[in-house]
Amino acid sequence: MRILMVCLGNICRSPMADGLLRKKVAEAGLEVFVDSAGTANYHIGSAPDERMIRTGRKLGAPIDNLRARQFSSSDFQDFDLIYCMDESNLENVLKLAKTDREKEKVKLLLNELYPNQNLEVPDPYYGSMKDFEDVFHLLDKATDAVMQKIK
Ligand code: 4NP
Repeated sequence: MRILMVCLGNICRSPMADGLLRKKVAEAGLEVFVDSAGTANYHIGSAPDERMIRTGRKLGAPIDNLRARQFSSSDFQDFDLIYCMDESNLENVLKLAKTDREKEKVKLLLNELYPNQNLEVPDPYYGSMKDFEDVFHLLDKATDAVMQKIK
């Protein structure tokens, strides 16, 4: 099983989702490959946002070593599940899908936690440290739901 987390910049939401799920998968001893990517190209090669790094360290899922990359159409071959943080990411990823099989891999992450509600992980980029911590806790719950599904 291979799971990709996707947001816009790949420096706030998707690296934190990636770090949380990687940690849970490792602790559970599962053979699941986890990665993340952004739909935009602004931050390719960058470390996660300093505020997300600090939040991950403080709350127990360090993401210091992750580096941003852009989503690419080859990710449809390389991953089984592609979880998007918001509707805009979902739309941009779906635009690159060539087949129904590729489209079926693409989901809104929070639908694993709150089925059929199409809720979004809010972008904390222009927010406060509290917004980053709120995103962490939301992603912690959402990745617990993903773990229930893949166990
Ligand atoms: P992310 O947050 O999509 O959760 O990584 C953002 C990071 C950077 C920008 C927007 C959102 N930006 O406009 O540079």
